[in-house]
Formats: sequence, C-alpha cells, structure tokens
Amino acid sequence: MRRWLAAAVAVLACNTALMCNATLAEEPAALMPGAGADVTGAYCNVCHTSDYIVMNSTFLTGDQWKAEVTKMRKAFGAPMDDATVAEISAYLAANYAVAAKP
Ligand code: HEC
Repeated sequence: MRRWLAAAVAVLACNTALMCNATLAEEPAALMPGAGADVTGAYCNVCHTSDYIVMNSTFLTGDQWKAEVTKMRKAFGAPMDDATVAEISAYLAANYAVAAKP
C-alpha cells in the first residue's frame, strides 16, 4: 500500500514538474573497468558523479588529468595522498584521455 502510494505521488509529481524526465532518468556514468577503477570511484564520486570524468574525457590529455586530480585535492580538498593521486591519474590517462597535441 505504501509503495503504491509512493508510485502515485511520483507520477503526480511528474505531471507537474518540467524536469521530471531528467531527474528520474539520470544515472551517473559507470566507470570503465580496469586497474584503478575502484579507487577512482571511491575518491572521485564523493562530491560529484563520474559524469564529470566522462564529460571531460573528450579533451583532457593524461597530463591534464593529473592536473585535474591535483586541483580536486588542492583547491577542493579531496582527501588523497600522493600515491592515490598517481593511481587515479594513471587510470584516467589510460581510460579517459585524448592524445596530447603535437
Ligand atoms: C572534495 C570534493 C571533490 C572531490 C572528492 C572531487 N571533486 Fe571534482 N569537483 C569538485 C568541485 C567543487 C568541482 C567544481 C564545481 C562544479 O563544477 O560542480 C569539481 C569539478 C570537477 C571536474 C570538472 C572540471 C573542473 O575542473 O571544474 C572534473 C573533471 C572533476 N571534478 C574530476 C574529479 C576527479 C577525477 C576526482 C577524483 C580524483 C574528483 N573530481 C574528486 C569537487 C570534488
């Protein structure tokens, strides 16, 4: 009964909220499997979803990813030690980077 009520409320909310589809269908991107995927998910999904990684993968090089991870640590206070920064940067460089422009 409770569940039915919750579903009905969701449907009602959908009819009135313009953003309904966007909010209900939104699932954060799953990270590509591979060495470092777990630690990246654990450290990089704390403040925002991995969508940020996917969105930036079309233009960041491996070096720029390292700078991005360092920025998350230094500017935004993500709690990571040097080894973790290196591991995540390597994972992002291998899976989400574009080639550096010559
Ligand atoms: C302590 C919180 C926090 C953690 C942990 C964190 N971020 Fe962020 N991240 C932010 C904030 C704040 C922004 C900028 C504000 C926004 O756009 O929402 C941001 C933005 C980004 C962006 C968009 C580009 C930019 O520079 O604004 C990328 C890419 C990104 N983060 C990647 C990562 C990766 C990779 C990790 C894991 C190493 C990570 N983040 C961990 C807080 C965090």
